[in-house]
Order: sequence, then structure tokens, then C-alpha cells
Amino acid sequence: MYISNEHGLSPATFIQSPGAHPLPFPLNAPGRLYFYRARNAIYHLFRALGFGARGDLVLVPDYHNTNEVLAIRAAGARIHFYRIGRNLEPDLEQLTKLVRTLTPRAVYVIHYFGWAQPMKDIVELCRERDTLLIEDCALALLSETAGRPLGTFGDFATFCLYKTLPVPNGGVLTRNTSELPELDRLRLRPPGARTVGGRTLELLLEWLRTRSEPAGQAAFAVKRGLGGALRRLRLDGIPFGDIGFDLANLDVRMSRVSMEVLKRLDYAAIRRQRRANFLLLRELLQGYATMFPRELEDGMCPYVFPILVRDKQAAVRKLSARGIAAQEFWNFGVPEARGAGFEDAQFLHDHILELPLHQDVTSDQVEYMASHIRSLEREL
Ligand SMILES: Cc1ncc(COP(=O)(O)O)c(C=O)c1O
Repeated sequence: MYISNEHGLSPATFIQSPGAHPLPFPLNAPGRLYFYRARNAIYHLFRALGFGARGDLVLVPDYHNTNEVLAIRAAGARIHFYRIGRNLEPDLEQLTKLVRTLTPRAVYVIHYFGWAQPMKDIVELCRERDTLLIEDCALALLSETAGRPLGTFGDFATFCLYKTLPVPNGGVLTRNTSELPELDRLRLRPPGARTVGGRTLELLLEWLRTRSEPAGQAAFAVKRGLGGALRRLRLDGIPFGDIGFDLANLDVRMSRVSMEVLKRLDYAAIRRQRRANFLLLRELLQGYATMFPRELEDGMCPYVFPILVRDKQAAVRKLSARGIAAQEFWNFGVPEARGAGFEDAQFLHDHILELPLHQDVTSDQVEYMASHIRSLEREL
């Protein structure tokens, strides 16, 4: 059995009629803006808010991917890190102190794995000092807390679409409390054909692999050959799924292919499947793996299934040998958020492993994954 870490795109999506399923937030948000990916949205947001011109300060979690921090920094903002504990939540006492003493212009919040941060407290804290609140929902698309979508609590929110949905690219920015018209004046260019075509093909092949592994493997081999030929022709290519920040690709918008796919997806079904996979995996791993003790709140859409392991690289190797594409999650943050004072963030970087639970993972696959993890219990 093979369990991919990525969802696939069914060719049948393209023959569905658009609009058959209601669009969820942020795809129905007034004033939403689409970008090639989330880091572009983050950069343009901070630029439009004038953080660079005024040297404004933003508080950013010390446990982060790195791409979001590079984008904020490239926009010229000053950054001070606040502490995320081993429970993946901010140290609210420290955050409160920082807001009161440093008077930042904004607080940046990341919702990890689809779990909501304590928004009631954070919203109150920001209101008290008239501080902007920006929600990073890159890992929290389709997730809700207390009946409200994540990304509706802050003044602004950014989302990554391709992490949760089978689109070749896409990031969204929502403006909840102010229009920030500078953003409407941006002139974004479309991504090139090789970039969009290559990723779309990969997603289609991923879907094929979920149906027939040998056929999928063979198709991927052909694609790799084709990719080499296209590279030799020097057609456009924007890196994908990488860690880094490239100023040259900032003004690229989301592709038309992504837009067409977005009109045709069944979002309720995607969330339902991810939740069912999460609950089954949690039940089967109880007592066999170190899990985060957070409840699956109503409306929450889990991004992956995080577990803690001793040695991430070794665990990935062992699981991969059994056909399970587990991933090392965020191995490090930016250099300024390492060392003394950042021990909890480092702990999370060192030990979180992500197990796939996306919408193409079936209950048989969840059971297969759980049985191998149970048998590896002492080794992980
Ligand atoms: C928390 C977080 N924010 C922002 C980003 C940027 O997303 P994108 O890859 O769409 O630029 C990522 C991933 O790169 C992320 O994990």
C-alpha cells in the first residue's frame, strides 16, 4: 500500500458544473484577493500597510515555517518573536506583556494544523491597544472555532489554498476591517504555462496513483522525463513547496486553472473526510503515539495528523519503507528564533512528524498507517 502526503486532482472535477457546492470563507469573502501563494499575499499586505516605510514592529510567533517571516521581513517590517509553548499555543502572559511594553503595530497569529489559537483573548488584547491582528491560516483553511471561520477574527487574514485543496497554486488575502485600497492597485501577472501545467499534471497523476499505484508510478516517471525536456527549453518555472522568498515572483497571481477548480470542489466533503480520518487515526493510535491533547472542535478542519517522535528523520525513513509518506514538519525557523529562549519552538521543530489525513486517504489506509505505527511504537 502507498499513502501519499498529497491529495490528488480527479479529472472528473473539470466536467462538474461550477457552483454546485457553496463556496466557504475565504473564497466568498468580500474584498478577497488571490495571489500565486500565501507568502506573496503576506508581503503585499505588510507593504500596503506601510510597515517598511514607517519601520513598524510586528510580534510574530517563534514557531513558524520561515516563509511567512521572510515575507514580512522583505516588506520592511521590524519583527519581535513571542513564545509558542509545547501545546502549540502562545504564552499569553508573555504576549500581553510584549503588547503592553513594545506597543507593536500588529500581532501575527499562526493557527497550527487547523487548531484555533485562543482568539477571544488575543482579540481583546489587540483591541485594548488598538493593535492590528493578522491571522495566518496557511494550515487552517476551512477550519472554524465557535461557529466562526478562522481568518474572520483578525483585521486581515492570509490563506494557502494548495496545501489543503487540489489546485496547482493559490493564496488568499482577506480584508475584514479595512479596505486597504492600495492592494486593489496591484498589477499581478499570470503564472507561466509550464509552472501551472506541471503542477496540474502532478496533481492528476497523484489522483491516478490513488487508483492504481503501478499506473501512477509509471506516469510519474514519464512526467519526470518531460519535466527535464521542458527545463532544457528554458520555459518559465516558479519553485513550488520550497522554503525561500524570491522577490522576482511576488507579482504573480493565482492561475485560471486554480480558479476553475475552486468553483467545482465539494468543500463540505473535504472537511468531512479529513475529520473522519483524524478521529479514526486518533482512536487507533491512543496509547501508541504521542499526540497533541487538543480536541477536534466542531467545524475544525485538520491539516495533517501531528505526532511527536524522538528522531524525525529516522521515523520518516521507517514509515516511508512501509509506503507511508510521513513528513518532517518545519525543521527550523529563522536563525534569530533559535537558541536560548526559544527552547519550546526548537522542541517542536525537532519532534513533530506529520501523518497524512487528507481527503484522498481512505479508512483502510488509516488502519494500515495505524497498524504500522503501533508496531513501530518503541522505535518512533
Ligand atoms: C504558517 C505558514 N504561513 C505562510 C506560508 C507561506 O505559504 P505559501 O507556500 O503559500 O507561500 C507557509 C508555508 O510556506 C506556512 O506554513
